[in-house]
Amino acid sequence: MKIVRTVKELKNLVSEHKKNGKSIGLVPTMGALHEGHLSLISRSRKENDVVVVSVFVNPTQFNNKEDLIKYPRTEKEDLEKLKSEDVDIAFLPSVEEVYPEEDTRQFDLGTVAEVMEGKMRPGHFNGVAQIVSKLFEWAAPTRAYFGEKDFQQIRVIKKMSQLEGFDITIVECPIKREIDGLAMSSRNVRLTPEQRMIAPEIHRILTESVEEKKRGLKPADIIDNVIKKINAHPFLETEYYEIVDSETLLPVTDFSVYNGNESYPVGCITVYCGDVRLIDNIKYL
Ligand code: PAJ
Repeated sequence: MKIVRTVKELKNLVSEHKKNGKSIGLVPTMGALHEGHLSLISRSRKENDVVVVSVFVNPTQFNNKEDLIKYPRTEKEDLEKLKSEDVDIAFLPSVEEVYPEEDTRQFDLGTVAEVMEGKMRPGHFNGVAQIVSKLFEWAAPTRAYFGEKDFQQIRVIKKMSQLEGFDITIVECPIKREIDGLAMSSRNVRLTPEQRMIAPEIHRILTESVEEKKRGLKPADIIDNVIKKINAHPFLETEYYEIVDSETLLPVTDFSVYNGNESYPVGCITVYCGDVRLIDNIKYL
């Protein structure tokens, strides 16, 4: 595995591989790697000749400075995990390398970046678009891998990729969960033992709500039930729960229009567990 810290070296390595007709799989991450990240990497390993993983805590996507400072940084452990996943290139640039000057680009991402996380975290998705567009340009991948854990982020990245005219296949990977259902996240380590015990309720209640849909409940009633049930638990406070169309991310008011449709309703949630902000989602298929 090559450990690369400069853009120049990354570009040189990639262009050498491309000259030889190799396909490139890119997995962007912010490190503190867990099984969720590793599932993306192993999928990329299966589908590409060369696997590039970036580890970079991107400051422009943090609208909360405290969150940026608190973000876990575990380079040594990350590199060991990447090596055992048979990664070819680990790209770990410094902030100065990625942003030698301020990135003032404002992407016209439209609705998919304005709703839900976009509303709660102004500027967040523009920052994501900035870093991912740079990585797409430098690594020039055939395919790039993203997790459905950050469902809205995938829609935003697809929009950015289309705006910028990248010819890159965006591969959507399923959410990896702990045995008790909690979606894996780098933030889970910040939960106290008591909070960690309660946090799986989020997924359990969402799963229950899919049964409610099967029993004929309407989106608005399901939303009310989910929020009530979650907030009834100590430590848990829902920031938002919305049931939206998987493509447009606009609210779904009636499930019946989805018979035979390609898109589907997806419930997207953010819950504070103490001061840890957890996100998750569920498909109403
Ligand atoms: P990060 O939170 O490190 O996540 C990197 C990738 O791993 C994302 O595509 C995310 O959706 C995926 N991922 C995280 N937890 C997962 C889980 N439990 N199951 C499946 N996939 C999971 O998302 C980011 O970093 C950044 O915004 C980034 C795209 C790297 C841009 O800075």
